[in-house]
Amino acid sequence: MVDVTQYLQDCKLILVSNREPYEHVRGAREGESEVKQPAGGLVTALDPTMRRTHGTWVAWGSGNADRDIADELGRVAVPPDEACYTLRRVWLDEADINGYYHGFANSALWPLCLMLIQHFEFRTEYWERYRTVNLRFAHAVADEAERCTGRAMAWIQDYHFALAPEFLRAMQPSLFIHQFWHIPFPPADILRLLPIGIHEAVLRGLLGNDLIEFQIDRYAANFLDCVEKFIPEAHVDHGRQTVSFRNRTVSVGAFPISIDVEHFIKMASSSDSLARVTTLRDRYARGDRQLGVCVDRIDYTKGIPERIRALDTLWEESPELRERFSFIFVCTPSRTDLPAYNALERDVIQSIIATNTKYGTSDWTPIVLINENVDSDLLAGVYRAADICIVSSLQDGMNLVAKEFVACQIDERGVLILSRFTGSAEEIDGAMLINPFNVDGFVAAIRTALEMSPEERKRRMHRMRRQLNNSTIFDWLGSILGRATEIMGMQTQPVTA
Ligand code: ADP
Ligand code: F6P
Repeated sequence: MVDVTQYLQDCKLILVSNREPYEHVRGAREGESEVKQPAGGLVTALDPTMRRTHGTWVAWGSGNADRDIADELGRVAVPPDEACYTLRRVWLDEADINGYYHGFANSALWPLCLMLIQHFEFRTEYWERYRTVNLRFAHAVADEAERCTGRAMAWIQDYHFALAPEFLRAMQPSLFIHQFWHIPFPPADILRLLPIGIHEAVLRGLLGNDLIEFQIDRYAANFLDCVEKFIPEAHVDHGRQTVSFRNRTVSVGAFPISIDVEHFIKMASSSDSLARVTTLRDRYARGDRQLGVCVDRIDYTKGIPERIRALDTLWEESPELRERFSFIFVCTPSRTDLPAYNALERDVIQSIIATNTKYGTSDWTPIVLINENVDSDLLAGVYRAADICIVSSLQDGMNLVAKEFVACQIDERGVLILSRFTGSAEEIDGAMLINPFNVDGFVAAIRTALEMSPEERKRRMHRMRRQLNNSTIFDWLGSILGRATEIMGMQTQPVTA
């Protein structure tokens, strides 16, 4: 087990993200509230790491009962059942949420980075709000750093905060600042779809960091290319993966994110999970029948319509698979205030109903839809019960669902069908890779997975599980903190003549 605290020693970790790890929401009864963990890779990955490092997590207080629980600074100890670290909530009003979160972050940067530019929309007011909110978060972090008696390190997360590093650098010139970019970083031809002046501002903002971490090398290379093309005063060294900018050196690197593997194995091995596996297989996969699963936020990047189309085509072309192969869709609504997400959710539900009406019988439903945010221990049982998991993202920085499925496959029976456009596909060796845009290839891959021998399945799954065990979320954290402390050390070394 990696001891992450060895890197931090007396240095306090101040983590910053848009999404908070615990949301307090009003309960059904007056005066009561409940705690929810929002779905998404960022929270899944970072909550276990913060439990180990005991720092402060600064994030948007998005729950409708969040203010009732926090103190006057917005602080609350979390997790609620075993306080390990501090959550400092930053408050956003409706105009902030619309301009910064729904606007610039999710209608401009998200579609550009994920290279689905038909969803790209830029408005000046989005950009202005994004700046204001980035500045507010930078102030909250600077305040947390000032309250520290010893050293501090700021660790910014994701595309919601491209400008915060530069703001924070101006407030705290000697603070070590680094950022993990969870999603792809686009090539220059895509980034320049942002207006002139804006794409340069995004890059200059990011260059306020000491270290910028990407999921894979290609995203890091895209970032360096963009800096080289658009920031004339910066000097890029592609070999060393560094940028010299304003008398400082900014380092860049690839650090593929992962999951708390042991935790998922533990959940999947529990007696509750085993009971769930028995129930699910009894209901959907008795005898030699097979069961598929997918788990996602309903997001246009996840290739959900493409997946439904592939399944529909499979049952159309191979009638012998009807009643022999069922599929569980675990899909939680996401970013529902944006029209594209709302329309997608409606479309997904209608397409599933259409497929079920076409092929379903009185005692067989082809696609079972669970349209909610399901607890992770329940998910672990579903992953374990499945013979196949499909991840069909059109683009995805990493995709943690793929790793969760592998971790939970205790019986090594399942096949992972994985889009080649995910970061995971570049890391996991043993999945069946698909191009979700190629429907015939997609259908053929599902058919091959269904026909795969138990020995071949076991061989592939065993290989993936071995790899995953060697690259957990704690290995990821260790390598990032190791690199960060190495750079910090170089910065504080006295200059010799
Ligand atoms: P993203 O960060 O884009 O949402 P990832 O696949 O990296 O994509 O991470 C998604 C995370 O959210 C995983 O931990 C997954 O288990 C969780 N998740 C996705 N959909 C659901 C759902 N319907 N119910 C519960 N958790 C979900
Ligand atoms: O992994 C990318 C990401 O945007 C995370 O930053 C985020 O927590 C997750 O997807 C879910 O999105 P949101 O926070 O907008 O619900």
